Amino acid sequence: MLLSCLQLTFVLLEQFVVSTFLVRPVSATMIPGRYLAHQEGLPKLPVPPLRQTCERYLAVLEPLVSEQELEHTRKLMAEFLTPGGAGERLQKGLERRAHKMENWLSDWWLQTAYLDFRMPVVVHSSPGVVLPRLEFSDRQGQIRFAAKLIAGVLDFKTMIDNETLPVEYLGGNSLCMNQYYQVLCSCRVPGPRRDSVVNHARAKRPPTFITVVHNYQFFVLEVYSSDGSLLTVDQIYMQLEKIWNSSLQTNKEPIGILTSQHRNTWAKAYANLIKDKTNKESVQAIQKSIFTVCLDAPVPRVSDEMYRSRAALQMLHGGGSRWNSGNRWFDKTLQFIIGEDGTCGLSYEHAPAEGPPIVSMVDHVVEYTKKTEMVRTPLVPLPMPQKLRFNITPEIKKDIEKAKQNMNIMVHDLDVRVIVFSHFGKNVPKSHKMSPDAFIQVALQLAYFRMYQRCCSTYESASLRMFRLGRTDTIRSASIDSLNFSRTMDDPSKPVAEKVALLEKAVKAHRAYTDMAIRGEAIDRHLLGLRLQAIEDLVSMPKVFMDTSYAVAMHYNLSTSQVPAKTDCVMCFGPVVPDGYGVCYNPMEEHINFAVSAFNSCSETNAARLAQGLEDALLDMRDLVEQMPRAKL
Ligand code: COA
Repeated sequence: MLLSCLQLTFVLLEQFVVSTFLVRPVSATMIPGRYLAHQEGLPKLPVPPLRQTCERYLAVLEPLVSEQELEHTRKLMAEFLTPGGAGERLQKGLERRAHKMENWLSDWWLQTAYLDFRMPVVVHSSPGVVLPRLEFSDRQGQIRFAAKLIAGVLDFKTMIDNETLPVEYLGGNSLCMNQYYQVLCSCRVPGPRRDSVVNHARAKRPPTFITVVHNYQFFVLEVYSSDGSLLTVDQIYMQLEKIWNSSLQTNKEPIGILTSQHRNTWAKAYANLIKDKTNKESVQAIQKSIFTVCLDAPVPRVSDEMYRSRAALQMLHGGGSRWNSGNRWFDKTLQFIIGEDGTCGLSYEHAPAEGPPIVSMVDHVVEYTKKTEMVRTPLVPLPMPQKLRFNITPEIKKDIEKAKQNMNIMVHDLDVRVIVFSHFGKNVPKSHKMSPDAFIQVALQLAYFRMYQRCCSTYESASLRMFRLGRTDTIRSASIDSLNFSRTMDDPSKPVAEKVALLEKAVKAHRAYTDMAIRGEAIDRHLLGLRLQAIEDLVSMPKVFMDTSYAVAMHYNLSTSQVPAKTDCVMCFGPVVPDGYGVCYNPMEEHINFAVSAFNSCSETNAARLAQGLEDALLDMRDLVEQMPRAKL
């Protein structure tokens, strides 16, 4: 009863309309227990019915595999679904797991998607966020902005600590807020076979400092005064100046570049690095710190047109060993990056959270930096921020050299194109009563089809945060409906009315898949669960997970995600397969920011071409829907 009264109070508080970008806490003071009460009120992630998933899986395969392959998979599926057979046994195991656990998927997902993943987190896992270019071009502007940004993040942290962060909603349903509690004071730690994530936010004495890195040198910056109050922007500025002035040498070993290695390689180097007590303490300080701020060295200028693409690379990998790749600790969950030329953004390690909570924090911080003026207050002298020392043995030096080489290979291989599609945003699809996200995804299917004359397995992240500890499932954007539309769109023999009807059908099908996914009824996590259950039960892997169709379905040539923000920013990430694309977008009301990535080593892919194709597809689709009334006459 007490719980439901509390919840009612929160709901009322949350309905308080937030009128600016700056997230307003639901209360100025602490509301202990609010977070848990909210979490406990969330539903548990369901295990979808077995037959439903299997039928949907066969439907998903239709546009992707040949009729012959599909027929083979149908037979394997029938075998899998035999009464009393493997499917039913694994499903029962999953249902038991779901009954016992808060979320049957979340631990498995964290492990399989992130902690067991052995590729470097750089490019292959960690996203970047590019913020609008700022109006400074010198070191003073850089430090001024950094001070405001730090204060903005700490302001957001206060809401997290006080449990006063407003609960978010999707389609009228309140969302799990757990990810907000995972992103500060946390860090990934490499392990020989599996990594882990440490989180110090709930420690007895939670960290009161951030880490700042400049010219590859790390510093501990205490951000709370001895009385527990936060440093003012002015005080942070003074501390940053001290850091800057004591890290002027540029010949330091880029120790942080070690974190960009293949995870097994890094795990070995890590074990060696922390054998030394000083090194161990320095690494632990970085891991514990609330977040990291990277004050980057200047990078070569590029044209205005290429500026955002270059900034995306700076956020994703730092530009290589000659530039800022050593000015990072890529395992750190949150690293804010600020360049001298007004470049600003962040890189985040993906294991603890998805993009939306990160970007919502960014929205708050950006607005905070606009409002906060630096007021010179009488200053109590603050101690010099502590520099983190590293003893570099010949072996560590060798590891650093190897990491530099590998990083430079990754840098050469990654191609990113950030474009601002300025012709329209969510407004046009909305005015035609279509879901903007579905419209964009269908455009992406059309662009891909025009380049390759076929469709491909496509991943779009769908939020499972309607459920307790929910992360994501997959919206499969390549459907029979999107393929029918793509095939017909450029066929001059087909009437406009038919094209319009097919477009509407494809958009509706995508939106229907989205609704199914956010309700926890999509197929991908369920299939993964069945597979992992087989491993856990030590039974042989059902054949349906070993055939060509399954491999094709899991080979995402298009890995996409919408990460909407109020700030005019864009998130970016690398492709998930060697011959694929990563596409992330922020649809604003009147324009859309896209980040498209591909690997240069793949001769079949080209980020600029897909980005151009996407623009063309969006424009052609707008022209098509604008003919709609005429076509319907
Ligand atoms: N007619 C008119 N308007 C419509 C419409 C229609 N048929 N369908 C949707 N809209 C409106 C919506 O009301 C919404 O309005 P708003 O701008 O006022 O909020 C807007 O269009 C956007 O809706 P839509 O484009 O359909 O997308 P969405 O906001 O529901 O988002 C997902 C879809 C899949 C992106 C979202 O459900 C999701 O899961 N997000 C999380 C993704 C994620 O975790 N990414 C992280 C990767 S690291």
